Amino acid sequence: MIERDFYTIYGTTPEVMVRAPGRVNLIGEHTDYNDGFVLPAAIDRSIDFAGRKRADRVVRVHSLDFEGWVEFSLDNIQKDNNNRWSNYVRGVAKYLEEDGHRLTGAEIVLGGDVPREAGLSSSAAVEVGTAAFWNNLLRLELDPVYLIKLARKAENQFVGVPCGIMDQFISALGRENHALFLDCRDLEYRHVPLRDDVKIVVCNSGVKRALAQSEYEVRLKQCREAVARIASSGRAVKSLRDVTPADLAAARSVLSDVLFRRARHIVTENQRVLEAVKVLEAGNLERFGELMNSSHLSLRDDYEVSSKELDVLVEAAWRQPGVLGARMTGAGFGGCTVNLVRQEAAEAFSDAVRGAYQDALGLKAEVYICKASQGALSI
Ligand code: GLA
Repeated sequence: MIERDFYTIYGTTPEVMVRAPGRVNLIGEHTDYNDGFVLPAAIDRSIDFAGRKRADRVVRVHSLDFEGWVEFSLDNIQKDNNNRWSNYVRGVAKYLEEDGHRLTGAEIVLGGDVPREAGLSSSAAVEVGTAAFWNNLLRLELDPVYLIKLARKAENQFVGVPCGIMDQFISALGRENHALFLDCRDLEYRHVPLRDDVKIVVCNSGVKRALAQSEYEVRLKQCREAVARIASSGRAVKSLRDVTPADLAAARSVLSDVLFRRARHIVTENQRVLEAVKVLEAGNLERFGELMNSSHLSLRDDYEVSSKELDVLVEAAWRQPGVLGARMTGAGFGGCTVNLVRQEAAEAFSDAVRGAYQDALGLKAEVYICKASQGALSI
C-alpha cells in the first residue's frame, strides 16, 4: 500500500519501509511520569513510512492523512505551525542531528489507520516511525531505548507536549500477541503473553480530547506537589512510585483532599499493575478484568480524568456478557476505552456497546477489535 503511494508520488520505488503501531494501555494510567509501571500493547493499526535517500540535505515529506507535504533542510530545522503534523518528523530529525548522527536528505511518504486525537498514540507512532526510518535507511544500528528516549524528547521539547515514555516505548518495542510490562523508572521491560481466546476491544468515544493537554499538565504538577509534601513530612521519596499505601496514610495531614486523591490513584494503580502482570502470567483473566474495573473507578473518582462519554462506554461494557474488564485508556477527557472480552462474545459486545452509546448520548462510537502487534524497532 504505502509502497504504491510512494511510487505514485515520487515515480520511483522506496528503499526503506517502516510500520509504527499505535497503542492501547491495558492498565497503568498516568503512572509513567511518576516513575511507575505500565502494561500497554501495540495494536494492529499503524502509521507506515516509505522513503529513499536524496543526495542533498533536503527532506520532503508527504502525509497521506493530511493530504499535504512539506520540505525542510536538515541544516535548519524549525517548527512549522501551518503543518503541525510534520513537527514530529522534524523534531526527531533535529535531535538525531544534534546527537551527531549525520542524516541524509530523504523523500518520505507516511500515512496509516491510527485514528488521530483518539488517545491511541498516533503522534508517538510518527515519532518512532521517523526514528526507525533513518535508523534503517542509514543502517545506524542505534539502540532502541536510545531512539525511544529521543522520540519522547521530540514530543516534550520540540512539539511541546509533556508526555511520559509509555507511548513511544510500546510503539517501538511491542510484540505480537503480547503486552509489555514496563518499569518507567529504570526502563526494564518484559513481554507478557496474551491469550487468544480473549480479545482487546477498543471503543472510540469520538470525542476529541480538548482538555487533555491542559489537565494533563495540572495532574503532572499535582503529583510533583504531592511528592514534595510527602517528602517534607520526613519520608525519603523521589516520586509517587516510592510512596507506599502506609506512607500515604501517614502523610494525609500534609496533603489537601485533591492532592491526597491524586496520589492515591498513582499508589493504588502501581499496585494494580503489579498484580495484573502476575495474574495475567498465571492465566487468571477474571482477576485481571477486576483490576481494570478498579482502575477505571480510581481514574474517575480520584484522578478525575474520565468524562461522561467514557463513563457511559465503560458502564455499558460492564453490563455485557463475556466482558472481563473495561476502563478508560490513555490520558482521558475523551478518546477511547479498552475492554477485555471473551472471543465468542466480542462481536455482540461491539454492537451492544455502540447501541447503548447511541441511545444514551446520541453519539456514534467506533469499535476496533485489536490484535497485539509488533513494534517498529522490535526484532
Ligand atoms: C498519554 C501520555 C502517556 C501517559 C498517558 C496516561 O498517553 O502520552 O505518556 O502519561 O497519557 O497514562
